[in-house]
Amino acid sequence: MALGDLPSGEEKRVRVREMFDRIAPRYDALNRVMSVGMDQRWRRRALDKIAVGPGDLVVDLACGTGDFCGLVEERGAEVIGVDFALRMLKQGRSRGLDSRSVQGDGEWLPFRSGSVDVVTCGFALRNFVSLGGVMNQIARILKPGGRAALIDVDRPTWGPVRVAHSLYFDRIIPLVGGLVSDRKAYRYLPQSTAYLPPPDQLREMMSAAGFLEVGRESLFLGSAQILTGVRGPLAPLGGALS
Ligand SMILES: C[S@@+](CC[C@H](N)C(=O)[O-])C[C@H]1O[C@@H](n2cnc3c(N)ncnc32)[C@H](O)[C@@H]1O
Repeated sequence: MALGDLPSGEEKRVRVREMFDRIAPRYDALNRVMSVGMDQRWRRRALDKIAVGPGDLVVDLACGTGDFCGLVEERGAEVIGVDFALRMLKQGRSRGLDSRSVQGDGEWLPFRSGSVDVVTCGFALRNFVSLGGVMNQIARILKPGGRAALIDVDRPTWGPVRVAHSLYFDRIIPLVGGLVSDRKAYRYLPQSTAYLPPPDQLREMMSAAGFLEVGRESLFLGSAQILTGVRGPLAPLGGALS
């Protein structure tokens, strides 16, 4: 889908928040189905890549119902989840997650500059209004030397896999999501991959936000990706809240 058909600016922010509030009750079950059960493995892989462990203060940005938060705590690190959709946070609580969480927007993260060791973010990059602005915010709240791991979906590039993936992602997921949850939302979710910049541009955006050692790993034949980086010594431009 062309970007021109998708919402932008404030309209996108409002629609995305309303959509996640609407689908919160069935989000977890459908998430597992959509990723064929691999989403938790990908989150663990992301935490391994940036060596999250005891002593780390982690902010899980766009935490949703808290899958990343639970895995971070299993490693003995402290975590604070942030999400702007209150019902996603409440859904996490109702299934027993007791990590600290706060309602907030990734584009104005409610943390002091240079105050956290790690930022994680699962499957939300394409939902932000300004991805560059969010990357600046992530860099701003990280201590110099702090690490970030950001996961999102991707589209395979190799022909036959691309076709099979598209059949599943663009047809079956909206169908199943529509039957079990919300038709409009599960049509939007695959379409929203159009917001994701190509790999080189994603890496450049992280570098521009002040990250060093920027890396990208492609997962499961190119259907998902993990971006990692280490916050450099310089404060990011445009991330001046303190
Ligand atoms: C696909 S869900 C992913 C949830 C969780 N990270 C996971 O791995 O399952 C995307 C989440 O991003 C949140 N989100 C989107 N834009 C946001 C923003 N600007 N600030 C905070 N949360 C946001 C949504 O409310 C939603 O919970």
